[in-house]
Amino acid sequence: MEDHFIRNRVDVTRVANLATSDERKRGVLNQIPVTLWLTGLSGAGKSTLGFSLERALLNTGKAAFVLDGDNIRCGLNRDLSFTPRDRAENIRRTAEVARLMNEAGLIVIVSLISPYSEDRRRARDIIGEQRFREVYLSATLSVCEARDPKGLYRKARAGEIESFTGVSAPYQIPQKPDLELNTGVMSVTDCVERMLLMFN
Ligand code: ADX
Repeated sequence: MEDHFIRNRVDVTRVANLATSDERKRGVLNQIPVTLWLTGLSGAGKSTLGFSLERALLNTGKAAFVLDGDNIRCGLNRDLSFTPRDRAENIRRTAEVARLMNEAGLIVIVSLISPYSEDRRRARDIIGEQRFREVYLSATLSVCEARDPKGLYRKARAGEIESFTGVSAPYQIPQKPDLELNTGVMSVTDCVERMLLMFN
């Protein structure tokens, strides 16, 4: 019985589920639960590709769900700003949610700028090496700024937004992503096809 509990904090003990996610996967969902972690500048296409991939997976009978930065910042993470510390917490919480959803057997697609390598490494640790796939959307700053779908680059250049990634806050390029997609030149359809290959 002792092995059933892993003590991780004072007066808090972790208890294991009776059904493992592997059993759920085989018996109910018939899919391998992974997390595709989409990172890149604002305007690189994280949300567009995340939701398009979700749609494509659902069309083939896979249960997938997108954890999108802007959406999560409207709810669970509404108390967080864009300081390095709050971005780290934003990523930590989202990674913990992705881990739980993977445990439940679901495929998770995370769309977060996640600009710091250290935060992405922690996310990989939380979700687990086996399940974590880093996808770097490598559209350049000039491409993203020219697109400026939300008008945020213009505001950042005008000094109306502080610590804006790519303008007044850093983006640390992934050194060894599992997949790199240059969304400045590739079509959405091609990018989704490349990501779907990761499920074979
Ligand atoms: S992260 O850095 O913590 O990963 P996240 O992906 O959740 O960022 O949120 C980014 C979104 O917040 C952007 O798409 C943009 O709409 C909005 N945003 C508002 N302020 C900033 C800012 N200072 N830097 C980057 N994005 C911002």
